[in-house]
Amino acid sequence: MVFKKDFLDKIINITSNAAIACYPHLGKKNKVLVDKAATDEMRKNLNQLDIDGKVVIGEGELDEAPMLYIGEKLGNGKGPSIDIAVDPLEGTNFAANNLPGALSVLAVSLKGNLFNAPETYMNKLAVGKDVPFDATDLDFSVEKNIKNIADSKNKDLNKITACILDRPRHKEIIDKLKELKVNLRLLTDGDVAGALLVADKKYSVDIFLGIGGGPEGVIAASALDAFDCKFQGRFLFKTDKDISRANKMGIEDLNKKYNLNEIVRGESIFCATGITTGDLVNGVVKNNDKYITETFVAHKNSMIDIVKKEVAIT
Ligand code: FBP
Repeated sequence: MVFKKDFLDKIINITSNAAIACYPHLGKKNKVLVDKAATDEMRKNLNQLDIDGKVVIGEGELDEAPMLYIGEKLGNGKGPSIDIAVDPLEGTNFAANNLPGALSVLAVSLKGNLFNAPETYMNKLAVGKDVPFDATDLDFSVEKNIKNIADSKNKDLNKITACILDRPRHKEIIDKLKELKVNLRLLTDGDVAGALLVADKKYSVDIFLGIGGGPEGVIAASALDAFDCKFQGRFLFKTDKDISRANKMGIEDLNKKYNLNEIVRGESIFCATGITTGDLVNGVVKNNDKYITETFVAHKNSMIDIVKKEVAIT
């Protein structure tokens, strides 16, 4: 095990502090301000770590995001070389409107073990470990995926639940799911948490599918790895700029379908602290002289847990 408990604790502190930084801005309808609060706090904390870190999944590229951009070096340079995937505020809209489901998310691995993904959309599919690997595929029709899952779980189609972002681009998929009488779990935002719902039976989600952010796909995959789930993703490049960025990151086959083991390898840590209460964790609570946070932690072969922290208000 490369990442020891004290390092894990430090990573938990980082998302916990970033979530707390959002607290004063919750419900203020200012997406930029709340995102900046999370990002600044995460950056400050990451720079205090004994690591030689580099952002591989970040808040945009250097020319468009001042903080935590892809390629940014983080840490004091004195420790191991680490790849970092950040989503300081996943569900900006949720936080700005004080709605359920906002998270502060971070994933780390040793250098070279997390996919260096461009800021573009990704077509995604995730299922739990109880579905045989070959039963689902991004290249299968929706109907084939659903029927295979139902067969493998010995369930009727109307006992299957699919989770997908509620977007016009998914109309055809959603119509097909309705026609099949599959139960729908429609997300207004937040598909990192959405993808994680396949990881545990308690969430009653059999498949997560559809198009969302590519960075969010890589981050979700890093958590799903700890649960031995299946995840597949295929980037979608719309503009020449997208394509040239992808090429610069070493992506030559633009149509490639990535399996989880090509997105995340080896040991990784995933932490997601609740900013507002959602399916995975409770949001930040202010209680007299302290904040209480809850963090969903997944560290492959070490721990999958929800960690509660109390942080004194200074
Ligand atoms: P932000 O927190 O960056 O706004 O992302 C929210 C989110 O819902 C992601 O979870 C998801 O991957 C993406 O936006 C979907 O993008 P779009 O809203 O363009 O469909």
